[in-house]
Amino acid sequence: MAKPPLDLIAAHEDAHHTAALLMERFHEAMIHLSLPRRAGELAQWSLIQTLMRAIAKEILPHLEHEELHLYPFLVSHVPKLEAVAKYLIGEHEDFRETFSELNLRAKDFKTVSGQLEREKLILRIQQGGTYLFFLFRNHIRAEREGLFRVVEETLKPEEKAEVLSLL
Ligand SMILES: [Fe+2]
Ligand SMILES: [Fe+2]
Repeated sequence: MAKPPLDLIAAHEDAHHTAALLMERFHEAMIHLSLPRRAGELAQWSLIQTLMRAIAKEILPHLEHEELHLYPFLVSHVPKLEAVAKYLIGEHEDFRETFSELNLRAKDFKTVSGQLEREKLILRIQQGGTYLFFLFRNHIRAEREGLFRVVEETLKPEEKAEVLSLL
């Protein structure tokens, strides 16, 4: 039986699966950060820090890889995708800025004293974390709809195989 044709949209979804799960765990931990009991809050906080280290290790290099390899390859084969690729890189920049801002707030978390200041900081961290979560989710959707749907229809099988190797 002939091999089924490459499905770039499914491959894109697969390639982002681990990162999407990581961001979901991160968002979930953010939601629970304001537990009223201090002990619960601290345990939740150390989970958030672990997840932030994982985001720095897994997701930030992924963004860079796309900018250096995947997007240029797609644009060189389908020039009309240039504007979409620029827009997507803008989202990557937003992700990096929001993430580094969150890292700064995370450092404050260790030193801030007073219940009111602490609550304000938690709120800011939660807002940043929630923004980051939805930014990432929408970004995956924008990549799928804006890039991968187009290249799935446009590229030749051997070019599609090359895209797979860049995911
Ligand atoms: Fe991306
Ligand atoms: Fe991506």
